[in-house]
Amino acid sequence: MRKKIVAGNWKMNLDYNEGLSLFSEITNMVKDEITGSQQAVVCSPFIHLHSLVQMAKGYDKVAVGAQNIHQNESGAYTGEVSAKMVKSVGAEYVILGHSERRQYFGEDNQLLAVKTETALKNGLKPIFCIGETLDEREAEQHFDVIRTQLKEGVFSLSTEQFSQLVLAYEPVWAIGTGKTATSEQAQEIHAFIREEIANNYSQEVADNTTILYGGSCNPKNAPELFAQPDIDGGLIGGASLKSRDFLDIVKVFN
Ligand code: PGA
Repeated sequence: MRKKIVAGNWKMNLDYNEGLSLFSEITNMVKDEITGSQQAVVCSPFIHLHSLVQMAKGYDKVAVGAQNIHQNESGAYTGEVSAKMVKSVGAEYVILGHSERRQYFGEDNQLLAVKTETALKNGLKPIFCIGETLDEREAEQHFDVIRTQLKEGVFSLSTEQFSQLVLAYEPVWAIGTGKTATSEQAQEIHAFIREEIANNYSQEVADNTTILYGGSCNPKNAPELFAQPDIDGGLIGGASLKSRDFLDIVKVFN
């Protein structure tokens, strides 16, 4: 059985103290309210990572992740943070390929393939994001776009490496817009992604891959989305900044 995951993406929000107090609310609620085998992941800015990992000790249903790493192992890259550094504070995951990184920082599939290798080499599990823009959907290119993102971004990984990945389908037009994909639209793409994985690796690998949905996911729409056979959880932006909302989404899998 593949893992059910609800991951929060704090993006560039919350100062150090705000982040710690939100996380402390989250861990307490997880302890009191989560009865299933799902995992909650919080992806914070680098600043919070070390403290969050310390606070998560003893809570096996809460894990911590970063939102980016540099593609190189180390060196003269002023202002950057390496995978090894992220791993050294005990973080488990890293979001890669988020559409905001693709759009505002020019990250393309080729660069993301290198970042993915670097993350895996250092023992981090990538949450690898893919998804089409509104223009691409309107031009009915969404399947092609996703096929290319998979092929160029992650399909050259070995089976063993690929098995460490979590994928996240995030239609760019649904991120932070309040416009969610319908559960049918999301399921259609998730099933397509799983089929592509089966074609490139095997049915077994496809069946074991956790595929999250992201884009204006909230406590109201999560139950219907997560009830779809190929949707294994969510990548949550805005709603992950409120402990009650985030927990209610995690609790869908109770
Ligand atoms: P959103 O963001 O939930 O605020 O739409 C999702 C994401 O960007 O991962």
